Amino acid sequence: MIPQPFIHDLLSRVDIVDAIDRHVSLKKAGANFVACCPFHNEKTPSFTVSQTKQFYHCFGCGAHGNAISFLIEYSGLSFIEAVHDLAAYAGMQVPVQLIDAPFKPIESHISPSSVAENKDNNAEIFPQDLIKALRVATQFYREQLKISEKAITYLKKRGLSGKTAARFSMGYAPAGWQSLEAVFPDYKSERTRKLLVSAGLVIISNEGRQYDRFRDRIMFPILNQRGQIIGFGGRVLEQEEPKYLNSPETVLFEKGRELYNFFSARRAIREVNHVVVVEGYMDVIALSQHGIDYAVAALGTATTSFHIQKLLRQTDHIIFCFDGDKAGRKAAWRALENSLPFISDGKYVDFLFLPEGEDPDSYVRQYGKASFERQFKQAIPLSEFLFKELCSGINLQTSEGRAKLVSDAKPLLQQVKASALSVILLKRLVELSKISQGELEDLLQIKRTSSIRKMKNVSKKQPITPYHWLILIILNNPSHVIKLDRDLLVKCSENNEEAAALKTLVDFLDSHPHLIESKSTPSILTYLQDNPYKALLESIESETLGWSDAIDLEAELLGALEKLQQIQRKKRMTELHSKSLNKLTDEEKQELQRLAML
Ligand code: UTP
Ligand code: MN
Repeated sequence: MIPQPFIHDLLSRVDIVDAIDRHVSLKKAGANFVACCPFHNEKTPSFTVSQTKQFYHCFGCGAHGNAISFLIEYSGLSFIEAVHDLAAYAGMQVPVQLIDAPFKPIESHISPSSVAENKDNNAEIFPQDLIKALRVATQFYREQLKISEKAITYLKKRGLSGKTAARFSMGYAPAGWQSLEAVFPDYKSERTRKLLVSAGLVIISNEGRQYDRFRDRIMFPILNQRGQIIGFGGRVLEQEEPKYLNSPETVLFEKGRELYNFFSARRAIREVNHVVVVEGYMDVIALSQHGIDYAVAALGTATTSFHIQKLLRQTDHIIFCFDGDKAGRKAAWRALENSLPFISDGKYVDFLFLPEGEDPDSYVRQYGKASFERQFKQAIPLSEFLFKELCSGINLQTSEGRAKLVSDAKPLLQQVKASALSVILLKRLVELSKISQGELEDLLQIKRTSSIRKMKNVSKKQPITPYHWLILIILNNPSHVIKLDRDLLVKCSENNEEAAALKTLVDFLDSHPHLIESKSTPSILTYLQDNPYKALLESIESETLGWSDAIDLEAELLGALEKLQQIQRKKRMTELHSKSLNKLTDEEKQELQRLAML
């Protein structure tokens, strides 16, 4: 859920032109600003920013949104991070429940405001306090690494240079139970205890004993997309369990959204235009020491769809590099499942399985960068991996086997939205299942709506429907929603996407009247992030870019409503005509006459 009032306020205070111009230099062109689109390659600018309407739209690739979505797409920030970034820019304080919203709440209403200095136990604890505490801990662990012979020996044995360890801010958590007391002098005060527990650094036992979570471990700080430390991974030095201990989920740290090394790898990823996703911290670090800086790792979780989306915003090509063992194949399959809905044509997802017994760390140390990169050529494209796995254990010589293949493939293929990929997968399934393409399309209920819609956008020759017209008017000025005749809308609404989108819009504004009253409006689409009609509404909104301020919206509205009435009249007449005359009541006959005269 987006906390609307704050977002609304923020978007009204920030000028999208300034916000974008910080990253992409904009040129004035008529009423709007333009640039070459940062989201796809182009030579002539089709990326357009409207200052009056506060949104951007690319006529080339369809990228569309407000100042917040720009930061999400462009800088690869999460929603919360983008809000923070913009708020800092606008000098606004983000309310704390916004930070809590998508995460678990901080344990038992914690408080205070500046790390350890604040002695007031009831003062609130802000996320910034946690970040500060984690920074203090990182510094402490780094100092401890410098003086721990044991830890240094271990890292040397693993082939890590001091330079690499420093680059990754690696550290060592000493073996004591309360080592952090050295840097948090009031470690045991109520407030500091709460702070350290919320940061995931300290654990309170059932008996109420307070102790450090990380003891006698090599420490790997985890950064968020803004380069702030949000958690740690900690590895044992000997053969103990668990081998890796990670920070728990906190207000700052949500494992399914974060990737190890993503912050530092971003530039390299953009430069080479691919990213390698590996399994472990040490894989990332070893690769980096050998000059491969575009590797990231999930943090003790499967690759989630958030991870995929995050990566696909930075690059067109993901290479998952997992161990060749059973666990590695399973992890790869999860990654595949989570990728399917987010691949668009022109994006590639490949799977690389290293030789048995090797992981990227051991491989790159033994064979070097060039050899590792040569392995990419052996990577299996997603389409191939998908069928290879689906067919394993199935006997395609039997009709039962082929039927099983089709039923296993169905839920996967249905998720693919990329039209070309979808066709390729379907054709492959035709070959394997020996069922014709037409029959398979029916069986799988694969619809090709997206490509049809795209074609429609290209040839915008047919006159727009009144629904489309009304959407345009409302997006331009939501206050006109009040003048819509709801009855008429209900009567007219056919099975029509535009009618449904209009209804969504009207319903939304009806339940959020403050958005209608407010003068300075960020685009309403800001609040319809997860709406099924979002793409359609965005494409309609982009048409308003060409409108001048002089346009007479009242007149447009009357025109649209009139057209809607005509539709309703025709519909009713068809209905009445479909009955035989002797079945019509007198009232219906009169109605028909009246309608025919209009
Ligand atoms: P691996 O067990 O494959 O270890 O875990 P590794 O990365 O090769 O580690 P080294 O080389 O022995 O140091 C891969 C990743 O799975 C997570 C960690 O993120 C680790 O990097 N993991 C593993 C855990 O979270 N907990 C564990 O106990 C083990
Ligand atoms: Mn390893």
